[in-house]
Amino acid sequence: MSKNNIDLILMEPIGTIHPNIYGHFVEHLGGVVYDGIWVGEDSPIPNIRGFRKELVEKLRAIRPPVIRWPGGCFAETYDWRDGIGPREERPTTVNWWYNNDGLYESNAVGTHEFVDFCRLVGAEPYFALNATTTTVLEGRNWVEYCNMPKGSTTLAKLREKNGSAEPFGVKYWGLGNENWGGGGAMTPEDYCNVYRKYGIICKSVFPDGYYIACGANDAIPDWTLKFFERYQQMYTEGRIPPMSGYSLHYYVSNFGDLGEETRYTDEQWYETLRRAWGIEPFIVRQIEMLNAAWPGNDLGLIVDEWGLWELYYGKNALPGRHLFAQETTMRDALVAAISLNVFNNHCDRIHMANAAQLVNCIQSLFLSRGEKFVLTGTYHVFDMFKEHQNGQAVRSLVHTDAISYDFDGEDRAVDTVSCSASVKDGVLNVSLVNLSIDEDQEITLDLSGGEYAREGSLTLLSGVDDKDANTFDEPERVVPKTEKLSASGRTLTVTLPKASVGCVSIPVVQ
Ligand code: AHR
Repeated sequence: MSKNNIDLILMEPIGTIHPNIYGHFVEHLGGVVYDGIWVGEDSPIPNIRGFRKELVEKLRAIRPPVIRWPGGCFAETYDWRDGIGPREERPTTVNWWYNNDGLYESNAVGTHEFVDFCRLVGAEPYFALNATTTTVLEGRNWVEYCNMPKGSTTLAKLREKNGSAEPFGVKYWGLGNENWGGGGAMTPEDYCNVYRKYGIICKSVFPDGYYIACGANDAIPDWTLKFFERYQQMYTEGRIPPMSGYSLHYYVSNFGDLGEETRYTDEQWYETLRRAWGIEPFIVRQIEMLNAAWPGNDLGLIVDEWGLWELYYGKNALPGRHLFAQETTMRDALVAAISLNVFNNHCDRIHMANAAQLVNCIQSLFLSRGEKFVLTGTYHVFDMFKEHQNGQAVRSLVHTDAISYDFDGEDRAVDTVSCSASVKDGVLNVSLVNLSIDEDQEITLDLSGGEYAREGSLTLLSGVDDKDANTFDEPERVVPKTEKLSASGRTLTVTLPKASVGCVSIPVVQ
């Protein structure tokens, strides 16, 4: 067993952890919507107004703050009018992903249904608006349809006719998705001009919107520099679109070099986790670029797609599986925990993050197939981390060894322990990850600026083996276990088993 020390500096708050960092993403892709969240009102599978009851209940339990919808790439060919009105009259359309899995879009889940789903689970909707293949007016009309007061306009009356007299109050609007790629393959300058049109026009109908511009992914980091250079020129031109948030996408893509979903070498395990942690330098660099191009800005960074994409190289759905549905192991759970630690530690700039995607897809919290349903390790990580929501993040200095490994003939290294910490209502919550595949870690948490007060708890998520997974046949192979701990004074020591995630929760006196 190795020893590690972490200084938790209560006098150095980073900021408030916005609950939206624990957000989700639902795209009309493969089995995310149909079979995932939606089974239909007439289904023998227990449902609430068509939504899978078990998923609704389990999701509600982890307090999801916000859910992004309807894509992703899907958003950029979506016509919101296809998804309103009597369900039996809605058109069948070609889903964006049709060439990958041959599925049509029934439009059974549209605006009203998705808002209903959000209310069932207690989340805010975040809509991604089509900024590529429809018109600015149609985008604006969707905002109007969702948000204008009862009885005010013809679209508000149409909403009432379709079952909702009261406005939906959709606050978060993404104006486009991946506009450097599937969203029109634009240049940053061109997209900035498109964003200006959408932003100014949407604001004219809904000034209180939280409008989000499409930003970079790790393959094109310089998009940010060029986008904001153009955005700055708009100040001199006199017409500035509103912008509250700027999105980033970051996937750990398995091109086959990271092994298979449930079969990988130790080196592939470490390389996966190193790349997951690579989201931190990516974010830091993005903040630097943003600040250089726009000094003094207070934009929220919105990581509205993140996750471990196991089947990145597989274009089509595997037999018996939904498109991109992947089996998950402790590897996925650790990717989730490392990513959430990074977001907590940068909560002064990251105001929202959305795991891609909720069910039957990349980095999912749930897997389903008809009546079968299972919670993944990623679900349990979200459950364990939920107490960070609205907490004051505090600085943690981790003293840990690096693990060295050889990857494709190159020497690589990754730290053994990842950590984030926050205080809420006098309780300190510390999230820990032991990346070592073969060694338990003793971790001492040294407190500055306070003392441990009483009894607390340690919740652990670990498998016997790093490849342990929850499956339809064995749904509870990996579940968190909570034990009591007590501490006074300034030090507290816990042991994290190999390849595990742990959360300490203990009152402190400051
Ligand atoms: O999450 C799957 C896809 O990944 C999304 O549709 C797209 O935005 C990204 O490339």
